[in-house]
Amino acid sequence: MERWAWDYVHADTLAAKLEPPPRPDRWETAPPPRPSIRPGRPPELRSLERPPKTPKAGALVDPSKRAQLVHTFFHHELQAAELMCWALLAFPDTPRAFRRGLTHIALDEVRHMRLYADHLERLGFAVGDFGVRDWFWERVPSVSEPAAFVALLGIGFEGANLDHTERFARLFRDVGDEEGARLQELVGREEEPHVRFAIHWFEHFAGGLEWERWRTHLPAPLTPIVMRGKPVVRESRRRVGMSEAFIDALESYVP
Ligand SMILES: [Fe+2]
Ligand SMILES: [Fe+2]
Repeated sequence: MERWAWDYVHADTLAAKLEPPPRPDRWETAPPPRPSIRPGRPPELRSLERPPKTPKAGALVDPSKRAQLVHTFFHHELQAAELMCWALLAFPDTPRAFRRGLTHIALDEVRHMRLYADHLERLGFAVGDFGVRDWFWERVPSVSEPAAFVALLGIGFEGANLDHTERFARLFRDVGDEEGARLQELVGREEEPHVRFAIHWFEHFAGGLEWERWRTHLPAPLTPIVMRGKPVVRESRRRVGMSEAFIDALESYVP
């Protein structure tokens, strides 16, 4: 398992990122070395110095603007898959059930990548046609304990995706891209168990999911401001087990 996770983080071809080999269910007897905090990058993925401008809602009638967004989503999924594998290696003392769960999620993210790559193709583009930024990699490995990892990536960023996918589904549908809209809805639904997993393990590592406890587990300078969409989708957040008080605090949070 450790080797499989290690190879996924460090792989530097698109084929290996899109089609990892079958996952073994055997574990090392001694903890592996700490993984690097830089993933392997296929040559197709050119990295940008600056974040690309997010296209305005009205611009999405243009397929190339939708493709740019889908490419960004593809790259988010890649980083999520890699970071799940990174955490398996970074926290060798955590229960196996937690680390095995991370690999299940990683494989969901890989499937999401393939779905986004397919939609890119439908729009007439391919992986590599736009630049990328390793925004999540620049931040997530700053966590030094598993509670902070699930607080940040699972509850924070995957939680935000519950809001984002709903908004983008609407925007894609508004310009007649029904398949793109359905893909957002599918990914949004499938992110729910990921957030539930994160909440379950946050409770195990740190205690119940209360606003202050969650907030204090986020590594500075990150705040909840980058962990919610507009609007906050209360229904899906309720479904994953966030309390009304937690959702209220998230919605009204001002740094
Ligand atoms: Fe995903
Ligand atoms: Fe996810």
